[in-house]
Amino acid sequence: MDIIMRIGVTGAPGTGKTTFSKALSKRLMFEYINLEDIIIAEKLYTGYDELRGSYILDIDNAYKRVVELSSPNTIYEGLSIAYLADESWLDKIVILRCNPYILEKRLIEKGFDINKIRENIASEILDIIPAEVYSRFDRGKTIQIDNSGDLENSLDKAYRFILGEDIEDDHVDWLGLISINDDINRFLS
Ligand SMILES: Nc1ncnc2c1ncn2[C@@H]1O[C@H](COP(=O)(O)OP(=O)(O)OP(=O)(O)O)[C@@H](O)[C@H]1O
Ligand SMILES: [Mg+2]
Repeated sequence: MDIIMRIGVTGAPGTGKTTFSKALSKRLMFEYINLEDIIIAEKLYTGYDELRGSYILDIDNAYKRVVELSSPNTIYEGLSIAYLADESWLDKIVILRCNPYILEKRLIEKGFDINKIRENIASEILDIIPAEVYSRFDRGKTIQIDNSGDLENSLDKAYRFILGEDIEDDHVDWLGLISINDDINRFLS
């Protein structure tokens, strides 16, 4: 394929970043890099948050490293991309989204503890990851894809977006959805 591009894939835990990014990198014949693996292997964190069960990102050093690592025709995936997004090392960003009811099932299956499940679902409902991306990255170079359903649909949409088609965001409204279902307390209390 005659394109040269560094693509970021981000989203809350369980939205499907790893599954999606591996499949997309195969389809595009791009290299695949899991940023979270690098952050852990190279200790690009300042500590471990016991309460959250996750590493605390060392933003300055992680940023330096991703700029060094950045090379053409690569898919970089990881939640941390939302906090390191910058046009000096990425050309486009795919933000994966997932319906909170489906996300809950996926996170239970992953074996996350109850607090981690609640925190991650709340982050998804409140659009935290897109807000972080948009604070540092040109919104026109991003796309939100609802990856609650068919993976092939999500891949097709991303593929066309990367090839330069003008694809609209999937407009998700999880807060609206849970309020219609009277589930605000269930997810956000
Ligand atoms: N489009 C999809 N439809 C149904 N199930 C999916 C889809 N995408 C991913 N899954 C499933 O959801 C679960 C989470 O996917 P995955 O591990 O790829 O998410 P992730 O965003 O990489 O999570 P983490 O942030 O914890 O690494 C897996 O069981 C995966 O098989
Ligand atoms: Mg993953």
